[in-house]
Amino acid sequence: MSHLIAPSILASDFANLQSESEMLDKSNADWFHIDVMDGVFVPNISFGMPVIKAIKKFSNKPFDVHLMIVEPEKYINDFKSVGADILTVHYEACTHLHRTVQEIHNAGMKAGVALNPHTNINVLEDIIQDIDLVCLMSVNPGFGGQSFIENTYNKVSLLKEMITEKNTSTLIEIDGGVTSANARKLIDCGADVLVAGSFVFKSEDPTETISNLKTV
Ligand code: DX5
Ligand code: ZN
Repeated sequence: MSHLIAPSILASDFANLQSESEMLDKSNADWFHIDVMDGVFVPNISFGMPVIKAIKKFSNKPFDVHLMIVEPEKYINDFKSVGADILTVHYEACTHLHRTVQEIHNAGMKAGVALNPHTNINVLEDIIQDIDLVCLMSVNPGFGGQSFIENTYNKVSLLKEMITEKNTSTLIEIDGGVTSANARKLIDCGADVLVAGSFVFKSEDPTETISNLKTV
């Protein structure tokens, strides 16, 4: 499978979400990456269900919703109803992660688990076969535009080994500080999905930047 690109709308122009969404929809992006922050799990607040519902009207691509919130299990059906296709929760925010993953599947979505930069991938040993995606945070979650943490390469390689060993079809997604300078190396280490916010939306021609990341 060739790698997927999931631009993060966190870096888009919120005053023009319709045109930003239409641009992504027409581009070579594979998914919309949608960052939900609650001001508790992370020190920032982004947006919630009404905004996701509004942009869903202008997109035909899968919505990859990344929940940086505490108690994500409370809102699984709400995110399904506004258009989430993949719902990712943080390992660090879930006491009963396995139950939460089951509930995401029961609601009819793919389930992802995100790991903060300090969290060892070994914590996934007993759940990797039950999840569709692992989102490795390559910055500390909460803000766009931060610098990529180099230790991520090592984590991608180790996670890829785990996935190969267990023979699961789990996708590896990298989130934070992704640019054309690290994309190729990440894919070579085993990444399947690259999230890019600032690198896409702050570029002169976001459509072309997405195409470049797609063919990197
Ligand atoms: C960070 C978010 C990321 C962020 C990526 O908390 O989860 O998805 O939008 O933005 P860049 O690509 O600018 O690091
Ligand atoms: Zn994200």
